[in-house]
Amino acid sequence: MDIWSDKRVKFVTHPLAKAILTNLRDRNTKQIEFRRGLVRLGIFLAYKIVEDFPVETTSVETPLGVKAIGVRIPDMDKVVIVQVLRASMPLVEGMIKIIPGARQGVVSARRVEELGMSTDKWFNIEIKYVKFPKINSDDNLIIADPMFATGSTAISVMSELLKRGAKPKRVILANVISTELAIKRFLEAYPEASVYTIDVDPELNDRGYIVPGLGDAGDRAFGE
Ligand code: URA
Repeated sequence: MDIWSDKRVKFVTHPLAKAILTNLRDRNTKQIEFRRGLVRLGIFLAYKIVEDFPVETTSVETPLGVKAIGVRIPDMDKVVIVQVLRASMPLVEGMIKIIPGARQGVVSARRVEELGMSTDKWFNIEIKYVKFPKINSDDNLIIADPMFATGSTAISVMSELLKRGAKPKRVILANVISTELAIKRFLEAYPEASVYTIDVDPELNDRGYIVPGLGDAGDRAFGE
């Protein structure tokens, strides 16, 4: 697949989102500003996701007693956002501002870094805590994780959610920086899913960090 033309891959192209991301990449950006930047990028990602929700025509009566034709988005109340601890917390804080009716789940997932990254760029993922509301067949499931590096975490989280009974209508991965590898892997594993991202970086280093990337998103948002 070609990630640049595949309809399942969506890019946030707004210049302000790009500028915020550039600031996050800067090694001199301090913790509070970094965390605030992730919140703001969550807002952009949520807007982009909602853009693709189906829209229905509706009408309301204005205070002038006149009918105004408008739209409603029925799926706004059919969203479950699962945050992958801990770096996605600020991102989800931003997303919730745009999708306030979203129900929320939490998964604690950790790369088993002691084992390192395998030669085919895969990490074993230790999942410890999983709590999420019922995910029904009319729900849009959004998995939020800012750094989509190898796809190991997202694929493991998705498989855990399905194992525990999630039956979403749509699966959406929301992230800030991806690699081609992660996008391709995730969409091969879950061909019905979509990926929303702000940027795609070219490389992974031998510790599985995205290059040029922005470093460790959790450490930078919460302190080392
Ligand atoms: N997680 C991060 O925080 N940064 C990366 O580059 C990869 C995974």
